Amino acid sequence: MDVRIERLDGADAGLVLLGLDRPSARNALGRQLLAEFRAAVRELGSDPGVRVVVVHSLVPGVFCAGADLKERAGMAAAEAATFVQGIRAAFTELEALPMPVIAAVEGAAFGGGLELALAADLRVVGADAKLGLVETALAIIPGGGGTQRLPRLIGVSRAKELIFTARRIGAKEAGRLGLVDQVTVAGGALESALALAREILPNGPLALRLAKQAVSQGMELDLAAGLALEEACYAQVIPTKDRLEGLAAFREKRKPQFRGE
Ligand code: COA
Repeated sequence: MDVRIERLDGADAGLVLLGLDRPSARNALGRQLLAEFRAAVRELGSDPGVRVVVVHSLVPGVFCAGADLKERAGMAAAEAATFVQGIRAAFTELEALPMPVIAAVEGAAFGGGLELALAADLRVVGADAKLGLVETALAIIPGGGGTQRLPRLIGVSRAKELIFTARRIGAKEAGRLGLVDQVTVAGGALESALALAREILPNGPLALRLAKQAVSQGMELDLAAGLALEEACYAQVIPTKDRLEGLAAFREKRKPQFRGE
């Protein structure tokens, strides 16, 4: 298996680790890994018990080396285009997961590896992380959403500079650019991502999903349409049991127990 799902339990129930595990190719996105990744994302997306997902690498020193360049070399042109469409779709599916998704990045995240992290809601990186959309150095362009998500995240000219130069940047620079949300000690990305996930975990699961939808979809709309979307999302939390539980817990001065109902 190139992709592993680990469901935490006890106090961490609802927290799921999605691990890339293809050491021989540094987690390069080959046919097998991609198929398993898409299946895993489908599985998590349809599970109402999943509250937060952390995507990480089980391979020391690397998050993901991007597209599998060895497989690519054996593909005809049409096949390569179809495969890249599959990568693009996979990351769109990851982005569309209804619950918060955090990427914990340790080591290299190049090309599709960085594009994968860009499709998460939040990015936590270790101090040794190296990130880059390096495709133009291979005479191709980012094809897993990088030309769209990077400029939306860090601004047009900064994204163009990184894409045109194919530059590999370190964690500190990525933090400065706002490409990542947290820079932690080398080797500490997963632990910090888990700490972040545990901060999210106690909150209303339906509220989290609707807040994600309101922000993610709203960013693509004008303000008036975005506010209408917020209203529509808010309307969906009003009738929930969890909302009443939140009010009751406040009144009774205790911690709420949300069930996602
Ligand atoms: N596709 C296929 N195989 C890859 C790969 C990729 N993108 N990246 C690494 N590998 C393979 C290497 O060919 C090597 O295989 P081998 O043992 O059969 O020679 C193995 O993974 C280990 O790679 P190596 O470079 O020795 O590991 P490293 O830990 O020193 O460096 C990287 C890791 C990720 C920094 C480096 O492999 C790299 O830069 N890869 C290319 C990344 C890239 O340009 N991606 C863009 C895709 S558009």
